[in-house]
Amino acid sequence: MKLLVVGGGGREHAIIKSLKKNPDVTEIFALPGNGGIAADATCVPIGATDIEKIVAFAVENSIDYAVVAPDDPLVLGCVDALEGKGIPCFGPRANAAIIEGSKVFSKNLMKKYGIPTAKYEVFDDMTAALEYLETAPIPTVIKADGLALGKGVIIANTRDEAKAAVRDMMEGHIFGKSGDHIVIEEFLTGPEVSVLSFTDGKVVKPMVSSMDHKRAGDNDTGLNTGGMGTVAPNPYYTPEVAQRCMEEIFLPTIAAMNAEGRAFKGCLYFGLMITPDGPKVIEYNCRFGDPETQVVLPLLESDLLTIMRSCTNGTLAETEVKFADKHACCVITASAGYPKSYKKGFALTMTEEAAAHTYVAGAKLENGKLLTSGGRVTGTTAVADTLPDAIREAYRIADGVQFENAYRRSDIGQRALQALK
Ligand code: AMP
Ligand code: GLY
Repeated sequence: MKLLVVGGGGREHAIIKSLKKNPDVTEIFALPGNGGIAADATCVPIGATDIEKIVAFAVENSIDYAVVAPDDPLVLGCVDALEGKGIPCFGPRANAAIIEGSKVFSKNLMKKYGIPTAKYEVFDDMTAALEYLETAPIPTVIKADGLALGKGVIIANTRDEAKAAVRDMMEGHIFGKSGDHIVIEEFLTGPEVSVLSFTDGKVVKPMVSSMDHKRAGDNDTGLNTGGMGTVAPNPYYTPEVAQRCMEEIFLPTIAAMNAEGRAFKGCLYFGLMITPDGPKVIEYNCRFGDPETQVVLPLLESDLLTIMRSCTNGTLAETEVKFADKHACCVITASAGYPKSYKKGFALTMTEEAAAHTYVAGAKLENGKLLTSGGRVTGTTAVADTLPDAIREAYRIADGVQFENAYRRSDIGQRALQALK
């Protein structure tokens, strides 16, 4: 089978390494992939949002199955376009990807179907939003409607900060057009859990839970990033919490999307907060998380390609989705300065052991050598029987990843360890 994977980060590298385990796979093309992914797939310089070119490439190369991994091509209808040419795909169509593409859509969906989430109001008029903030409970959370490159969330600790955020979004357009509509919502507290799930639109099979570390600095300080490391499973996701999530959130969400005529097939990511009132949805993503994927897929014992195709074909109910009863830790090595400004173009070297455990997110190949090309450069994952061992191993192996200005958080997994105690 010839496969195509759209995307070019650490998540896509993890997906490709997992897909390669299936003996029927003869070739994998990554569009665009990256210098590190080139060790495991044929990288083709077509951007992940260049849908016309992606479709043309898939047709010309007789692709048997495509995996569309990032949010933006999904929201733009990449799956619809590929399916239109008869190419089966993993990933939701645009009408279902809107669950991530529009926060107004997802909040209204949850309200309509009684799915637990933070209380909220939607505004498309700045004066009304500012007036609402005169009496809204503080802290408050302000979210731009669109994808906003994953950055459109501001947590305001004072009324003035909240008003400034609204002005920045609606008048200053700091997140572009996605600031035309905003959501102002209740500030929730409690540990966060990421649950990625497979769904064929009928049944939903959650993957092992995970914990992201979103802030740039140790002890959750500094700016929000795409994620500086992950562990799986997440100790806050107890069997009782898992059962409540299934009954109160996962199944109702699948049913709600069906009732709206927007059946969701692919990976539905539930960003959850375990509040004193029970689990609530912070956000939905229409795709695998990054770097959650780098701890979840290494624990997957069943065959990824078989599961993905069953999501496409509607046969997930009969398909085994089994995870190892182990622990995984992924440590991101980033360019110092990320997520703000950082230097790139430095030589990236990895020991043989490090390369075997590392997913490359931001590097390019030049004259056969890897050079850093992004903020998040690599993710190094270790699997072990216990969480302390997984953390220790991930850090030990990540030491074999080297480049000038390399930066890692030193406390990935520590919060999970505290929770276990
Ligand atoms: P998002 O981009 O929606 O994942 O939001 C980024 C981060 O903001 C989340 O991971 C949470 O830590 C935080 N956040 C979002 N919404 C809320 C909320 N209603 N209450 C508290 N924290 C939130
Ligand atoms: N790591 C968070 C995300 O993928 O959205």
